[in-house]
Amino acid sequence: MPDFTQTDWYRFPLYYDTVYNGDTPTEADFLEAVLAHHGRGAVARGKPARILEPACGTGRLLIELARRGHRAVGFDLSPEMVAYGRHRAKAEPVAVRRRLRIVEDRMEAFRLRGPFDLSFCLLSTFKYLLTEEHAHAHLERVARVLVRGGLCVIGIHLTPYGRRSTDREVWHGAADGLRVRSEVITRPADRVTRLESLRNRLTVRRRGVRGVERLETNWPVRTYDAAEFEALLARSPALEPIACYDFSHDIDAPRALDDSQEDVVVVLRKR
Ligand SMILES: C[S@@+](CC[C@H](N)C(=O)[O-])C[C@H]1O[C@@H](n2cnc3c(N)ncnc32)[C@H](O)[C@@H]1O
Repeated sequence: MPDFTQTDWYRFPLYYDTVYNGDTPTEADFLEAVLAHHGRGAVARGKPARILEPACGTGRLLIELARRGHRAVGFDLSPEMVAYGRHRAKAEPVAVRRRLRIVEDRMEAFRLRGPFDLSFCLLSTFKYLLTEEHAHAHLERVARVLVRGGLCVIGIHLTPYGRRSTDREVWHGAADGLRVRSEVITRPADRVTRLESLRNRLTVRRRGVRGVERLETNWPVRTYDAAEFEALLARSPALEPIACYDFSHDIDAPRALDDSQEDVVVVLRKR
């Protein structure tokens, strides 16, 4: 077996973007469709929105949304991610840069004020909040910075507690002479601790460079089935669940928030 260096893959934003940037336009289309379908006032008529992305990573979605005319603000706890996002933003025209802001902060304790028309957190990132108190604190903070009628979109992978086998997903990406393979293993969840452990392995090849870089990250996330997620949402009555979708991010394909499918994208509206 080849050796993998133990690390934190979020210290390598370029590798992350190489793999996951491909879905950015589809996800940005979906967020605009959410504003059009569920938003109130001018943003529902296609006017630029004030958008917040907690745990924004490389800023890939914020940059796309700023290019589309929105004011896009995000934060992340990883200094490497924030530095990379800011660096990417510098390559944008001045008008786009002016609409963008990326800072260091934490989901459970962020200090940004708002107001925002939309907050979104896709790709199960919400599950990085490891305790119920941190998850609740995050929702309360989001509720505080949203305008009345503002929207909060959260995409998470629900946990099938009955499954005892390991789940494996593989993604590939290539850009600028770089080829990255990302494999994520999810081990069976513990219903008592509400934690599941994930392992990511990145295999990186560079054009013109011999050899392969191999990086491994192990980390825990908090688990939810549909009832557990609904119970958490019920603790924040200022945010009313109004719609649910899946990771196809298709506004014309709403679904129920239940355990029949594992990937859900929930839309909440500030009362
Ligand atoms: C799967 S990435 C998602 C990045 C981005 N939202 C996207 O869609 O590409 C998860 C991100 O969450 C960040 N993160 C994890 N826990 C966090 C926390 N408590 N507060 C802020 N950021 C956090 C990580 O640093 C990482 O950049």
